[in-house]
Amino acid sequence: MYHNRLKQFPEEFLFGAATSAFQVEGAADVDGRGIAVHDIQPKKKGITDFSVASDHYHHYQEDIALMKELGLKAYRLSLSWVRIMPDGKTINPAGIDFYKKLLDEVTANGMEPIVTIYHFEYPQALVGRYGGWASREAIDDFERFAEVLFENFGDKVKYWLTINEQDHLLKIPSRLGISEEIEGKDYLKLAEQMNYHMCVATARVIKLCHELLPHAQIGPVINPMYAIPNSNRPEDTLAAMEFNELSTYYITELHCRGRFAPLHWKYMEDRDILPEIESEDMELMRNNTPDFLGMNYYLNQTVATNKKEQFSYHEKTVFIQEEPGIYEITTNDNITQTDWGWNICPEGMKLAIMDFYNRYQLPILVTENGLGAYDVLENNQVEDDYRIEYIHNHLSQIKDCLGLGYPVLGYCAWSFIDLVSGREGMDKRYGFVYVNRDNEELKDMRRIKKKSFYWYQTIINERGESL
Ligand code: BG6
Repeated sequence: MYHNRLKQFPEEFLFGAATSAFQVEGAADVDGRGIAVHDIQPKKKGITDFSVASDHYHHYQEDIALMKELGLKAYRLSLSWVRIMPDGKTINPAGIDFYKKLLDEVTANGMEPIVTIYHFEYPQALVGRYGGWASREAIDDFERFAEVLFENFGDKVKYWLTINEQDHLLKIPSRLGISEEIEGKDYLKLAEQMNYHMCVATARVIKLCHELLPHAQIGPVINPMYAIPNSNRPEDTLAAMEFNELSTYYITELHCRGRFAPLHWKYMEDRDILPEIESEDMELMRNNTPDFLGMNYYLNQTVATNKKEQFSYHEKTVFIQEEPGIYEITTNDNITQTDWGWNICPEGMKLAIMDFYNRYQLPILVTENGLGAYDVLENNQVEDDYRIEYIHNHLSQIKDCLGLGYPVLGYCAWSFIDLVSGREGMDKRYGFVYVNRDNEELKDMRRIKKKSFYWYQTIINERGESL
C-alpha cells in the first residue's frame, strides 16, 4: 500500500471547518425568519431544539475572529432558506443583509467561504403548498432560491454546494416534511421521486451558476459510507459493491453522467417504484455536471450478502440495515466505533476518494468529517485527544491521496464550533470550540478553545508536515 510521499499539503489546500445554519445560528424567530421543517419536528426527550443553538447569529463576529485565530483557510457554512425567503418564495431583506455582513466578515478575515445552498433547512410553507420535493414545483423554487443567492452573494463566493446529503434526507422523512404515516412501498416510491427531483434541481442550479458566475465552482455534497466485504467470499464483495451502488452511486450517476445506475433502475423496477421522468431531464443532467464532488465522510460499513429470497418493502428507518436478497450490514472486529456506534475507519475515506475520482475524474472537496463525542469541560478546558486522533488519521489518508495524485481541494472538519447535532442535541459535540450550554440550560454561551483547536492550528500552520 502506498503512503505519504508529500512533505506538506499543497499551498492552496483549503484547510477548513464547517457548520450549518440551523444547527449553529439560533435566532429562530428573529428578523422575519420563516418556519423550516425541523422547527416543527418532534424532538427526542431531553434533547434541545434548534431555536437558540450556538447563537452564532448574535456571536458571528466573535466566532469568525476565532476562525481566524485557528488559521482556517476556508469556512463552510449554509445559508438559511427561511431567513432569506421565509415562505420559500418571497425575499426577506433582513435575511440578505445578515448574510452579506457574515460573508464580508469571513472574507475580510482572509477565509474562503464555501457555501451550501440547502443543508436540510427546507421551508415548511412549500411542504404545505405542494408537498415540497414530492412535486416538480420544488425544482423551480430551489432554482429561484439559488438565483437569489447567486445575485446577492455571487461576488463574495467562489465555491458553492447544492444539496447537502440528499441520500440522508431520504432516510429521515421528517426532514422532508413527510408524514410518518406514509410507509413501505408508498414511502419508497415517494423517496425515489423526491430523489429524482433533487437531481434535476441540482442540474438546473449548476447550469444557472455556470451562466451567472463563470468563475465560480459548484458541486453536490454526497455522503458515502464506503462498504467493504464481510469476508473473502466473492459473494460478500458483490454485496459490498451493490451496497455502494444503492447507497451512493445511485445519486452520483445522475449528477455526473445523467443516467440511472443499472442496479438502481432494476431495484426500482422490481419494486414498482420508478419515478416519473420528463424526457429533457436526462439531457439537462448530462450537460450540466458538477465541477467537483463535495464529500461528507464519517463512517464506513462492512457488508455481507443477504440470502433471503424475497425482497420486502422496508419501513422507513434512519438507516437501512438490510436489503433482503441483496446485502446486510455486519460488525467488523477490526474497526472501532464512536459512542454512537459509527465505525471509525479512516481508510474508508481514502477508498471513497480514490473510487470517486476513478469513476468521475472530478476533484474532491471533503466538506465534513469529524468525531461526535461527550466532551467534558473541566477547569475551563476540554482535553479532546480522541478528536485529535480521529482527525489526524483522516487527514493522513487525504495526504496519501494527494501524494498518489488524487486531487483533493480541501478538508472541512465538522464542526468549527459545537452546535446542535441533528439527532442528539448538545450531547454529541463536534467542535474545536466548546460552547458553554447544554440541552437543559443555556448558561453563558461562552466560547472555550478545546485542545483540538490548538492542535489543528499547528497542523494548518505547518501544512500538515507532521501527519
Ligand atoms: C451530516 C450532516 O449528516 O452529519 C450534519 O450534514 C450533521 O448536519 C453531521 O450534524 C453529524 O450528524 P449528527 O447526527 O451526529 O449530528
